[in-house]
Amino acid sequence: MYTLGIETSCDETSCAILEKRKVLSNITISSLKEHKKYGGVVPEIATRAHLKNIDKVLELSQRKAGILLKKIDLISVTYKPGLFGALVVGLNFAKALSLAINRPFVGVNHLHAHLFAPFLNQKRRIKFPFLGLVVSGGHTGIYRVDDFDKIKILGQTRDDACGEVFDKVAKAYGLGYPGGPIIDRLFKLKYKNDFRFKCGRIGFDFSFSGIKTALIYKKMEMEKKGTFGLKVRQRLVSSFQYAALETIIAIVLDAKNKLKIKSVVCGGGVIANEYLRKRLKEEKSKGIDLFIAPKEYSGDNAAMVAGLGFYLYNKGYQNSNIGLKAEAN
Ligand code: KG4
Ligand code: ZN
Repeated sequence: MYTLGIETSCDETSCAILEKRKVLSNITISSLKEHKKYGGVVPEIATRAHLKNIDKVLELSQRKAGILLKKIDLISVTYKPGLFGALVVGLNFAKALSLAINRPFVGVNHLHAHLFAPFLNQKRRIKFPFLGLVVSGGHTGIYRVDDFDKIKILGQTRDDACGEVFDKVAKAYGLGYPGGPIIDRLFKLKYKNDFRFKCGRIGFDFSFSGIKTALIYKKMEMEKKGTFGLKVRQRLVSSFQYAALETIIAIVLDAKNKLKIKSVVCGGGVIANEYLRKRLKEEKSKGIDLFIAPKEYSGDNAAMVAGLGFYLYNKGYQNSNIGLKAEAN
């Protein structure tokens, strides 16, 4: 069975073709560069880029997989959450294709798709329940997953998403965009406690806006003193990354212990972070059954969307209503 996945919720236009859970192609064109000078994603620019690129991405994904549209059995598309105009492009494209090739389409939740990423290219049965951790530019949350259609939120950010704060701090510090990979590269463990930043925690909820403000105040303070050089910025962002990521890890461990769930499944753009991956793997050696999205499927991509659609289809979600509407953040 071949599934075509379509993802357009933010700044990545992506199409993938899967044979069951095996990824045959996963082609993404990002409009990242066009947003760079604004230091964040501009919805109108992202939407126009999807319109411009979606045909090309579909064409390339067929070529790479060696599978033409007429062989596709199912179309899976992200319909929520995301930027409204951006979602509408992918969703309407999927609906039109579904009518044109006379195949069903299923609409999937982008956050749930991030949790499917670790199971791509894997044959083993997915064991429930598990704790799902999604850390991305738009969302940071922890979930109890009894199945992919039985997902309950346990905790989430009360303000900014984790990746969003990486991006905002890097922007304020003049380091570039997107901030996540830049801070990841600059991070040095030896600077972890040079500045004692703290993130907010309320039960399983987190708050990142306080730490963001603290970093901006530090910048102003040091600029006044004339000491805001590259080395100091590296020490500051290292202490920031340490505090932010250790908060997330502490919440995951807390949830695991309180709910007595051994498996933890992680996805989302920030999961590409070297330090976070290393720390999660350390916890694995202490007894967590850990499933972590491979780097190539941690950021936004259509393969995870196709994988989740295929899974739900086989659970009985046969065809979405043609009237299905996009739902923004
Ligand atoms: O999942 P994603 O591609 O898009 C959303 O659904 O939001 O996540 C993008 C976010 C951006 O904020 C980016 O800075 C962050 O993921 N990110 C990282 C790393 N790579 C991407 N954050 C920390 N370390 C990284 N290596
Ligand atoms: Zn995402």
